[in-house]
Amino acid sequence: MKLPRNHFKPLAIGAPEPFRDLPVRLERMIHFVPPHIDKMRAKVPDLVRQVDVVLANLEDAIPADQKLEARAGTIAIGKDVDFGSTGFWIRMNALNSPWALDDVIEIVGAVGDRLDVIMLPKVEGPWDIHYLDQLLAQLEARHAIAKPILIHAILETAEGVKNVEAIASASPRMHGMSLGPADLAASRGMKTTRVGGGHPDYAVLADASGEAHRQRFQQDLWHYTVARMVDACLASGLKPFYGPFGDFSDTAACEAQFRNAFLMGCVGAWSLHPTQIAIAKSVFSPDPAEVAFATRIIEAMPNGSGAVMIDGKMQDDATWKQAKVMVDLARIVASKDPERATAYGL
Ligand code: GLV
Ligand code: MG
Repeated sequence: MKLPRNHFKPLAIGAPEPFRDLPVRLERMIHFVPPHIDKMRAKVPDLVRQVDVVLANLEDAIPADQKLEARAGTIAIGKDVDFGSTGFWIRMNALNSPWALDDVIEIVGAVGDRLDVIMLPKVEGPWDIHYLDQLLAQLEARHAIAKPILIHAILETAEGVKNVEAIASASPRMHGMSLGPADLAASRGMKTTRVGGGHPDYAVLADASGEAHRQRFQQDLWHYTVARMVDACLASGLKPFYGPFGDFSDTAACEAQFRNAFLMGCVGAWSLHPTQIAIAKSVFSPDPAEVAFATRIIEAMPNGSGAVMIDGKMQDDATWKQAKVMVDLARIVASKDPERATAYGL
């Protein structure tokens, strides 16, 4: 095992020092762009003003015979677009694919100084993170990149879920994780044909009470995995995300799935379609009424300890900490979203 004192040492001479804490960034949605399509690339400067993160996708959904065009398109986006405070991420191809090595070498070589995060698919264990960590340090040193490029793992294999804690703590370069429900379903042998969301047959039946109709209650297929991911991420100071929701026509179900993830601790989700941008914005920004109540808790307990009653509900050190999570998030949202800043009174 690596000595604790070596954990934060750069892995290559000339590479930047790893971050001790993640940069504070608003990342309510990671918006996927297919960079090989000229029309979609042309929309990126506009998108940058609407979303928190733009991600150029190189992996699944990009046809095998268009992988090189997608890579060239990603480099063009990195060179041409002014991202301001919006994040610029890529999803590279999986480490066992023929494209992964050149994705990293060419994209980091060309636009590594503008790239915030590399999303790494199909992560099985800490060894995948260590490999990319070392390679990135070498490339950062070669190209004199001053800001470390972070790694975001997709949790989408049974082995990855088994190793989720070790993946989270594999490197100070880790940014966070996203649930990858489509690949995870395949890897686990789940009997579904969907990208995320629930399934009508995954349900419990109310007790038989003599009446003909027994109520069914649909359960959340992803609850277990999201819970494990949230605990692994927060224990290591990382950010957990819900991933994709594939039924673009069912905005209500998308919102419900995103909201469950938000309530459980996730900070954002993927948007694969323009309608999902507004859903993610509304779900992953705290509700102004909740922010107002959280502000009252903080004001009632200025030093964060003791117990007070507000509207008949007990508040103590633990609810003060919950209130702080809410108000801190509202401040970050307010810094990028003037409409919500007004609603929060910030
Ligand atoms: C995402 O990559 C997924 O497999 O769901
Ligand atoms: Mg996948």
